Amino acid sequence: MTKLDLIRKAKALFLKWKLDVLVSPFSAGMLNAVYMSEMSKWRKAHPVKGYNDFYQPTWDYQRRIKLYEAICAAEGLDRKAIDYFEFGVATGSSFKWWLARNADPGSRFFGFDTFEGLPEKWGPYEKGAMASSLESLNIDDPRATFYKGLFQDTLIPFLERYKGGQRKLIHLDADLFSATIFSLSQLYRFLEDGDILMFDEFAVPQHEFLAFKIFTESFYIDYEVIGAANNYFFLAVKIKK
Ligand SMILES: C[S@@+](CC[C@H](N)C(=O)[O-])C[C@H]1O[C@@H](n2cnc3c(N)ncnc32)[C@H](O)[C@@H]1O
Repeated sequence: MTKLDLIRKAKALFLKWKLDVLVSPFSAGMLNAVYMSEMSKWRKAHPVKGYNDFYQPTWDYQRRIKLYEAICAAEGLDRKAIDYFEFGVATGSSFKWWLARNADPGSRFFGFDTFEGLPEKWGPYEKGAMASSLESLNIDDPRATFYKGLFQDTLIPFLERYKGGQRKLIHLDADLFSATIFSLSQLYRFLEDGDILMFDEFAVPQHEFLAFKIFTESFYIDYEVIGAANNYFFLAVKIKK
């Protein structure tokens, strides 16, 4: 029997004897360790060409504003018309920041959210957490439009009508692996040289990081990291084509 035959037999026996019952209790911890290690390798292989506050002894959500400021200054994102996409709007905190910062009348701001909270559990957050209604956003800027519902339902019809032409700043702030991989894979055919992807929870190894890793490796995406803040929780990358 060759080595390959042995491996095939071992796999078949694993299924036959239902060995998942032995492995399952340890899966979550092992997967977390594996993807944390993948993230550490990724960090070493991808130096940040721009703002980076690593290493910080404490976690501070407000550091994302420093990343926004830094990429605005480096990329001129407040000086010309852009198409801003936000996946995960919730109370509109980051959406309003970009709306106020880029005053160009030609800019367009597209916000996607269930506005009924997370569609599935994420770490300690239950399904429905972070719910905030569309009506409570209080945004009357005519450049902004919102798409209520699951990205999985709203994004494809939106993209069928979407006409590009402006630099895109795509803010992925839905936290979940499923939402992030779905959005990235649908946006793939619209990505152009210089477009920017921004993440808000990048350093969660089994969610935004994993979605980004699988997306970039499966679609052969070339990019450079242009900013990182709060120990890589907030990250910005620029697409190279
Ligand atoms: C962390 S919050 C967004 C925070 C917001 N960007 C801010 O700065 O305050 C994540 C949001 O993603 C939304 N979300 C997650 N998965 C989604 C999906 N598949 N479709 C639609 N919305 C989703 C949730 O409803 C939630 O409001």
